[in-house]
Amino acid sequence: MPMKDFLFHNPTRVIFGRGKTRDVGELTSAHLGEKVLLVLGRQSAKKNGLHSLIVGKLAQSGVLAEELWGVAPNPSIESVREGARIVRDKGLTGVLAVGGGSVIDCAKAIAAAAWHDGDPWELFEKKIKPPNVLPIGCVLTLAATGSEANGNSVISNPATEQKLAWYHPEAYPAFSILDPELTFTLPPEQTAYGAVDILSHVYEQFFHNLEGTDIQDGMAITLMRSVIANAPVALANPDDYDARASLMWASTLALNGLIGAGAVGDWTCHMLEHELSAKHDLAHGAGLAVIFPSWMRLVAARKEKRFRLFLERVWDVSTQGVAPERLGQLTYDTVTRFYRDRLSAGVTMKDYGVDNPRVDDMVTCMLTYKTQETLGGLTRDEVVKIFQDAA
Ligand code: NZQ
Ligand code: ZN
Repeated sequence: MPMKDFLFHNPTRVIFGRGKTRDVGELTSAHLGEKVLLVLGRQSAKKNGLHSLIVGKLAQSGVLAEELWGVAPNPSIESVREGARIVRDKGLTGVLAVGGGSVIDCAKAIAAAAWHDGDPWELFEKKIKPPNVLPIGCVLTLAATGSEANGNSVISNPATEQKLAWYHPEAYPAFSILDPELTFTLPPEQTAYGAVDILSHVYEQFFHNLEGTDIQDGMAITLMRSVIANAPVALANPDDYDARASLMWASTLALNGLIGAGAVGDWTCHMLEHELSAKHDLAHGAGLAVIFPSWMRLVAARKEKRFRLFLERVWDVSTQGVAPERLGQLTYDTVTRFYRDRLSAGVTMKDYGVDNPRVDDMVTCMLTYKTQETLGGLTRDEVVKIFQDAA
């Protein structure tokens, strides 16, 4: 099958470089208005001084900022409810996210929920589509999700144990400041999980069965090789600007629609991972380090050509003379060796303290909104096998 037709449109302004956070006041005033909600995580932005820098810049530009602190990894719908309440009560004009994917996703949901009188969770249940979304800006502090330049938001609901994704064409940030120096303070495991997440976004869009996708393949291979080269450098030397800059730009390019244009993505492993982190509260990248290799081992022989290309061009592993049925194990070994040895990331659920995974619950829950067709043709038994092999 040939490459699909596509429409590529990405409206996010990316302001990239050392010290670019200094522009946040002017950018906010120009694109979000004069009264914004500043959305933050639990403590890192306070500890490393980023919060006070941003508050100062906003004040200099005449922007009034209300604050919502405490957005946790795998952000909860409770934070969205609280933020939407503040935005409505105070008549705010935009939402500024300062953090990683969790904070940005929460900001997007708040910006949409501001247009909806009912419970924001209805957005994620796809019961309503807000007519509009308040403008969003980002100061990115973690290279991982690509949320800084896409229209996706992923939110968890602890009451129903669901973690659901939502997309809106108006939810792309109006601007994103990508200052690699802001990632110097990341704990090593977050750098590692971020690298796994970036790689996983590329995997999701790489293992298709289409022909004629040379351009997307070339970009995808470059992104993967860059992450594989730079993540260990950033772990060994957290202040290495070049390594951090490569990871940050890779984060954005892996999920801003560019490499997926015309090359239809799969996203099965992300759905499986969202179930895993919804039921066992794992970091997203950690869940992907567990799920993806297990999926690869199962499906490699069915996508033989793509997996040979992957091993040869991304990992420099020769597949000459390797039988199709051996490709899965070879891929599993190659990828998990890198995760374990070079990123110090676990590759089984046990490595993350999940000794009794609720496989039945995860599969049953996922099959309420996914079908075999939208899971790349996997049967229920195969999904169970991926989880069990990853345990
Ligand atoms: O909460 P604080 O104290 O700020 O600490 C955070 C958090 O504990 C810390 N951190 C962030 N920047 C830091 C820092 N610590 C020190 N220095 C810094 N510069 O890192 C921890 C993790 O942050 P989080 O935002 O949760 O990580 P990530 O960016 O990996 O986001 C994960 C979330 O995004 C969703 C995931 O499912 C998960 O909920 N995703 C969103 C996507 C999207 N919108 O397109 C796609 C992804 O596939 C993914 O599903
Ligand atoms: Zn991801």
